[in-house]
Amino acid sequence: MTHRAVAILISGTGSNMLRLVESMQGADHPARPVLVLSNRPEAKGLKHAAALGVPTAVVDHRGRPKPEFEAEMDAALRDAGAEILCLAGFMRVLSADFIARWEGRILNIHPSLLPLFKGLDTHARAIASGMAVHGATVHEVIADLDAGPILGQAVVPILPDDTPDTLAARLLPAEHRLYPEALRRFAAGNRARFALL
Ligand code: GAR
Repeated sequence: MTHRAVAILISGTGSNMLRLVESMQGADHPARPVLVLSNRPEAKGLKHAAALGVPTAVVDHRGRPKPEFEAEMDAALRDAGAEILCLAGFMRVLSADFIARWEGRILNIHPSLLPLFKGLDTHARAIASGMAVHGATVHEVIADLDAGPILGQAVVPILPDDTPDTLAARLLPAEHRLYPEALRRFAAGNRARFALL
């Protein structure tokens, strides 16, 4: 079985990244992790990835022009042989040029039911909306922020006493089920939308 080579991009805790790496340990999985890359040297996920035997890299975005940052990232990803990029709590907006170089091969997880609540502060905005449900979306990345084709969504209830923190804590385990399922399907060439309810 030939495997698709996956690089995972993080900025922080990397809990979604860890779930992706663990899911790819299955013998029947169509993908393998080849690199975990962080734009922040202090990202906790880096040492967790290394402990699982996945190569890691840091490409710091601070104090330099974006084209230079992205060119170094692009080189590290290509050196690792990456074919699919998974953004997992990666908190930099990628340029249209970078995205064009990886067209159709970048996935992202966003903590809302897109197309609702693109951008930041999604949990607070979901609560303020008065909706009874919230969720997460895995989608293909296009130059338009959080607007690419939806691959899968997971739904959780919003409870009367929720704060952004309690809602985020309820959503995270749903993200951990959603992203591995989305990657498994995508790596096998299946882009049909699915829902975890
Ligand atoms: C996750 O909730 C993810 O959906 C969100 O950041 C968190 C990262 O957690 N992503 C975004 O907000 C992207 N704009 P993790 O580092 O533990 O996976």
